[in-house]
Amino acid sequence: MKKLALLCFTLGSTAAIADEGMWQPHQLPKIATKLVDAGLKLNPNSLTELTGFPMGAIVSLGGCTASFVSDQGLVATNHHCVYGSVQYNSTEDNNLLKNGFLAKSFKEELPATPGSRIYVTEEITPVTDIIQAPLKSDMSGAERYNSIDHSSKFLIADCESDNKYRCSVVNFHGGLEYYLFKQLTIRDVRLVHAPASSIGKYGGDIDNWMWPRHTGDYGFYRAYVGKDGQPADYSVDNVPYEPKHHLKVNKSSVDENDYIMVLGYPGRTNRYRTALEVENQFTWTYPQAKAYREEIIELIHDNSAPGSDVRIKYESTLAGLANYAKNYGSMIESYNKGTTLTRKQALESSLNAWINADKARKHQYGDALKGLNSLVKQDQQSQARDLILGYINYSKMLSSANRLYRLSLENQKPNVERKGGYQERDIARFEQSMKAVNRRFDAQMDQKILLAMFKHYAQLPKTQRLESMDKFFGTDKNYNEQQFQAKLTKMYQATTLNNQETRLAWMKKTPADFTSSNDPFIQLAVASYAERKFIEETSEELSGNIQSYRPKYMAALIAYFNSQNLPVYADANSTLRVTYGNVKGYSPQDGLVATPFTTLEGIVRKDTGIDPFDSPKKQLALINEKQYGEYAKKELGSVPVNFLGTLDITGGNSGSPTLNDKAEFVGLVFDGVYESIIGDWDYDTKLNRSIHVDIKYMLWVMEHVDGATNLIEEMDIVE
Ligand code: ARG
Repeated sequence: MKKLALLCFTLGSTAAIADEGMWQPHQLPKIATKLVDAGLKLNPNSLTELTGFPMGAIVSLGGCTASFVSDQGLVATNHHCVYGSVQYNSTEDNNLLKNGFLAKSFKEELPATPGSRIYVTEEITPVTDIIQAPLKSDMSGAERYNSIDHSSKFLIADCESDNKYRCSVVNFHGGLEYYLFKQLTIRDVRLVHAPASSIGKYGGDIDNWMWPRHTGDYGFYRAYVGKDGQPADYSVDNVPYEPKHHLKVNKSSVDENDYIMVLGYPGRTNRYRTALEVENQFTWTYPQAKAYREEIIELIHDNSAPGSDVRIKYESTLAGLANYAKNYGSMIESYNKGTTLTRKQALESSLNAWINADKARKHQYGDALKGLNSLVKQDQQSQARDLILGYINYSKMLSSANRLYRLSLENQKPNVERKGGYQERDIARFEQSMKAVNRRFDAQMDQKILLAMFKHYAQLPKTQRLESMDKFFGTDKNYNEQQFQAKLTKMYQATTLNNQETRLAWMKKTPADFTSSNDPFIQLAVASYAERKFIEETSEELSGNIQSYRPKYMAALIAYFNSQNLPVYADANSTLRVTYGNVKGYSPQDGLVATPFTTLEGIVRKDTGIDPFDSPKKQLALINEKQYGEYAKKELGSVPVNFLGTLDITGGNSGSPTLNDKAEFVGLVFDGVYESIIGDWDYDTKLNRSIHVDIKYMLWVMEHVDGATNLIEEMDIVE
């Protein structure tokens, strides 16, 4: 096998390591021969051209990936990526989540969730020198943090010369490198089509992260711009965006062992963390976060009937909570039965030995790991508080009040000095998020969530709690649940923040308006602000200090790997990456082999008629009658539904088009198998499998079940 990517810390067994790696476009020339050897038919260098084909057709939705599949701005992505917009437009009487949605004409398309965006990356510029030049070794953590923050803001302001563009400065390798990203930002996004959840989310959370799989996880948006072709806010007069490039759809799909690749925006991986960080994450953070998530899920389930208006309001929240509760569970399992930690420790020992074997290296990197770890330990001291404060924010009343008050304070400063998220460039999205609360909130549920999470907070040692918050709630002496609940009930009765107009009006108010308000949530936000700000500053100080060690540690690791001729890719950070591999099954356990394709018949066999295995009757009938249309695959004797690939992906890659050797659309990546989830920390070639919707199933459902022929006609379909 080719010795290609670096198996991040699987020392000693680095023989078969193809397919690992999330490569930055500029790195591709370095691995060009590997791409061609693997089967790529395009010139590998063409993949580095952001505004060329095929890169120009790949877009980010912020959290998901998508692609242009017509010259009329039609965008294909996952069902779970358009889910929030389907949810947003659903009511008890018109439940689009349940029934699915299809616009038969442009006019019938629905606005996506407020704040939805389509980002097209146009420029990536290295800016490491600009960010690092002002940094001095004797800076305090806060000074270093602020210096990086200011340089970034300066670069961003310069880059966002007009509001067509959104720019960001992103760090790679923990701060060793920085790049400036310039993205065309489309602000009028509309929902075009989503199958019923009994197709798009078939198998629900039971099948999520699992194989064998039978999910039609696809959906469509459309990008709109002003009549002048430039990004614009929603308007009925807007016209479909005409992208320079869009993908052709190849309805022949793929066969076992075929070359496939995914261009997309993977969110986060942690393949270069220290053993101390790994151990803490798997033995403390994940178990604790999983428990909080499961508690909120249970609470929502127990307090809302399926299909009720309240449940519909929380479906999107539920899906997100459940997705990662299961994700964490799998990682904990894999960690406990595997050797992740011992291999990580072994890597650190051999890295140290390598560093210490050479005087210059010792001088350069000698203190990196130790220095980093002592700061990591410091961070862990407040992690219990930080985690529960994060989950308390699931209360929309509490988090909205905090954000609104912060906005009023930031508004007092000149724009460039405002905190990220509160600058002029952020206001439109801020406003839209305040609007989105309405379809995602129920006062009683919000109160229950706050009560449940506060109970955990109240168990923290006093030194870790916020005095101001305890005082406000009267929980500074001891926590009495009844008293606390009575207080909450009063607050929810008195607050007017549940009203959209009120929230929007607060966006324009001054700090003095807040301090004199008698809205209890505003009062809480004001009372606790100083302490919350102090926590934020402490964490910035720490993060600035970490910047003096993490980049150095990464430089050592990279030098060490390069000394073994292993090229290194950066951890995922929501920026554009390329991963490639093949269609392939795997062996999840000793004695079991998973084949790479599932078929329509598998849907019938799984079906119970009960959610989440309640396929539409029409689909079941078509399958029983073997009405495969033109989409059957000879070798399978049926229509393929999902397939497995060896691609190195993670959350954020969701919705990425799966491309064949000519960069034609042959499916959508939407998940990874259960055994591969720990891959975010510890990649294993044997177990790492991505799960894709097969284009044949997608087109079959669109044509035969949903009658989405208008979209099939709109796309360029080839064989
Ligand atoms: N596991 C998928 C991902 O993170 C999301 C699938 C959503 N479906 C669900 N049943 N919650 O990309």
